[in-house]
Amino acid sequence: MEILFATGNMNKVSEASEIFSKKGLSVLQLELGGSTPEFIEPQSEDMEEIAVSKIEQARAMVEGTPLEHSAILVEDSGLFIDSLRNFPGPYSSYVERTIGLTGILNLLKEEENREAEFRALAAISFDGKIVKAVGSCRGKIAYSVIGESGFGYDPIFIPYEGDGRTCGEMSRVEKSQISHRGRALKEVSELLNPPSK
Ligand code: IMP
Repeated sequence: MEILFATGNMNKVSEASEIFSKKGLSVLQLELGGSTPEFIEPQSEDMEEIAVSKIEQARAMVEGTPLEHSAILVEDSGLFIDSLRNFPGPYSSYVERTIGLTGILNLLKEEENREAEFRALAAISFDGKIVKAVGSCRGKIAYSVIGESGFGYDPIFIPYEGDGRTCGEMSRVEKSQISHRGRALKEVSELLNPPSK
């Protein structure tokens, strides 16, 4: 079974491929007319609402194309910082593009409470059904940008289940074992319960 991941982020596609391959499922990036779909994100703080909206938009885009009956995967994720009352949360990608990692470090310059959490919600739509799963990963925000792997806030996030390195210093496999997305995708891949070969 092939799953089409509706995202413009190839890092997310690689992380998902890694996990779904263990279930004998392959993940490809959803492309229509040679480009990845752009979603209108609802102004919502509810990740489930955002993910369901992405699924509905993706379904509408593939209608009438050869991909109409394919399984579609969407995911919504973000970084929630305790002392910033969960900012940037649902605005994570916008904040990353605007003030960036150094902007976040500046906001926390005088702050001792570095507690934060990555959260993800993954949803797969197939056969008229939607299966969903959430995952989280707690850790703390580093004092500087460390590491070049991964993407987004990885170089400033130190997961508690790691060894003190930021996610930006971890391999994809190391990160997936403890990450919010790794957990959400693993659970959703289990919910799919594909027939054993
Ligand atoms: P989305 O693509 O709308 O779900 O936005 C997610 C945003 O949250 C990304 O653009 C990153 O800024 C941040 N983010 C989500 N997951 C991760 C991760 O695994 N590492 C680093 N940043 C992440």
